[in-house]
Amino acid sequence: MIIGIGTDLVDIRRIERTLERFGDRFTDRVFNQTERARAARSPNPAALYAQRFSAKEACAKALGTGFRRGVFWGDIGVDNLPSGKPFLTLSGGAKRRLEELTPPGTTAQIDISLTDESFFAQAMVVILAVPKP
Ligand SMILES: CC(C)(COP(=O)(O)OP(=O)(O)OC[C@H]1O[C@@H](n2cnc3c(N)ncnc32)[C@H](O)[C@@H]1OP(=O)(O)O)[C@@H](O)C(=O)NCCC(=O)NCCS
Repeated sequence: MIIGIGTDLVDIRRIERTLERFGDRFTDRVFNQTERARAARSPNPAALYAQRFSAKEACAKALGTGFRRGVFWGDIGVDNLPSGKPFLTLSGGAKRRLEELTPPGTTAQIDISLTDESFFAQAMVVILAVPKP
């Protein structure tokens, strides 16, 4: 059963400007160490950060809170499997909100898909409640 969906579109040029203006103040506040390390290895950190920013916003919408009610950017971590497939890890207020949303007898499963093209990065998140075995 689907218990949440969210989507977001980010202009990579806006993230470029934010990085120029705020640098580490922005990245330390919004991105975890895994995300920052991946960006440091990337030929285009702004595009990578924009994609992950869109993932966090899409997840915050799927949780039905946005970045309110104790849900912060740092609570939603984006990582990749060795295959490249992205996945999300929630902590803090985002994890608590996910637990509130998840019906008894089920486990939450978060699916995410990311894409980017020229100036834009987009994310889609679906949260499923899967019956416990
Ligand atoms: C929800 C949120 C993530 C949307 O992000 P955004 O990039 O500003 O706006 P977007 O255009 O991508 O999305 C807006 C749409 O999100 C949807 N939305 C708004 N609140 C939502 C919520 N709680 N849950 C799910 N979707 C929501 C609405 O459809 C909205 O469009 P509409 O008002 O025309 O219907 C953002 O509004 C938010 O959380 N803001 C709070 C951040 C904030 O003020 N934090 C304070 C600490 S810095």
